[in-house]
Amino acid sequence: MQEPVVSDTQLKLWNIDTCQTEASEEGTQPILFRNSVPEISSTTAATFGIYRYPAKFIPQVIAYVIKQYATPGMTLFDPFAGYGTVGVVSRVYGYDYELWDLNPLMKVIHDTATAEIPRLDVDTVLRQMRDSTEVFTPRWSHLDYWHPAPFIPLLQRAWGFVHSQPEEVKTLLIIPLMKVTRFFSHDDEKVHKLYRSRRARAKIEALLQDDWEATFWVMLRREVFKLVAGLHEYHQMSPHRVNAHIRAGIDTLHTCLDREVGMMITSPPYLQAQEYIRSTKLELFWLGYSEEDIRWLSSREIPYRRVEPIPIYSELFHKHRAMIEEPHLLALFDAYFHAIMGCFTRLAERITDYLCIFVGPAKVRTVPIPIDEIIREHFQHLGWSHVVTYVDQIVSRVMFRSQVNPASGLEESRMKTEHMLVLRRY
Ligand SMILES: C[S@@+](CC[C@H](N)C(=O)[O-])C[C@H]1O[C@@H](n2cnc3c(N)ncnc32)[C@H](O)[C@@H]1O
Repeated sequence: MQEPVVSDTQLKLWNIDTCQTEASEEGTQPILFRNSVPEISSTTAATFGIYRYPAKFIPQVIAYVIKQYATPGMTLFDPFAGYGTVGVVSRVYGYDYELWDLNPLMKVIHDTATAEIPRLDVDTVLRQMRDSTEVFTPRWSHLDYWHPAPFIPLLQRAWGFVHSQPEEVKTLLIIPLMKVTRFFSHDDEKVHKLYRSRRARAKIEALLQDDWEATFWVMLRREVFKLVAGLHEYHQMSPHRVNAHIRAGIDTLHTCLDREVGMMITSPPYLQAQEYIRSTKLELFWLGYSEEDIRWLSSREIPYRRVEPIPIYSELFHKHRAMIEEPHLLALFDAYFHAIMGCFTRLAERITDYLCIFVGPAKVRTVPIPIDEIIREHFQHLGWSHVVTYVDQIVSRVMFRSQVNPASGLEESRMKTEHMLVLRRY
């Protein structure tokens, strides 16, 4: 296992946050993706929001790009698929697809979000679950740190039942049970990271004062019905039977495409600390992953790892790099760009038509880093042409306009735009 390049403390010092960039430059087009695809009514419609996944695409981003650039027969590819939204949307428009992600959760979410409507009677299944004596214990030394002791036997039986069931039952229950399991933990669900807070403590105290076992089953039942309703709505969109190739739990930096694909649509890990594995480890332990598995996955996350340097053909990259004085920030800057540019450059060799890369602008200390522009310059040097950069306003975050960063004491602006860079081969 390789050592991460930087520590958590260094990451806090990194003070990366997102910022606004001008949307008026040549080759850019302002857009509000969420309002751009009339057939997708909301960002969480159907099964586009069955589970909270950090930095998830809204479905309209993918739908819009597909409608603009995909041609019949094309295969769509996302090497950092996260929730698997590219797959869930591709089916609606009838495209084959391939999804990769380090996080094994991607396959669970994708398979549930694209499942057939269950033919099972929900209440019968839940009754069997209640009566089951199967027990599953996660291989997790911090189990009782994250779950109050009284809840653990109930969770062990619920997961014991799920793990003993055929696929159809698992698909119906896993996502709802993941949500309820997280609720019955010390985690604060309002925060993406696994995080204990005063609010989480108040939640547990309130649960313990009441009939928490009854609450557990009511919540689970409600979540199962919500999922079934989402699947009905998804099937009303007439998703096609397409070829889907899903590879979760893999390291994109060391994986090769074994065939040509038409279009890559992806959003790479963000420059700021996101820690997808750490954010979702509670779920991963209950799904059966061990501490060793989780350590391996965490050690592969971009940008927390050492990577082979590659030539980066961008003046902007070198200009911004020259402005960074602190060695640890430089190490992270290098790790990030060599990781994402290295894998995009290698994967692009097997992409026949379009690269569509969605990124949030970021800054190091107070200096904005135009990630999309750096990627654009690099690929233009390699012979790709710039079609357009769509500049999307992030409606839900506009309210957090200016805050003081506790790490730097500096006032900072939160992300207000995200950019979809579209490049075409020649
Ligand atoms: C911005 S998120 C992608 C979100 C996705 N577009 C969605 O709709 O949910 C970036 C993803 O990169 C993944 N990732 C980080 N390092 C990786 C690696 N070395 N190999 C593969 N995936 C990686 C993370 O697990 C995360 O899901």
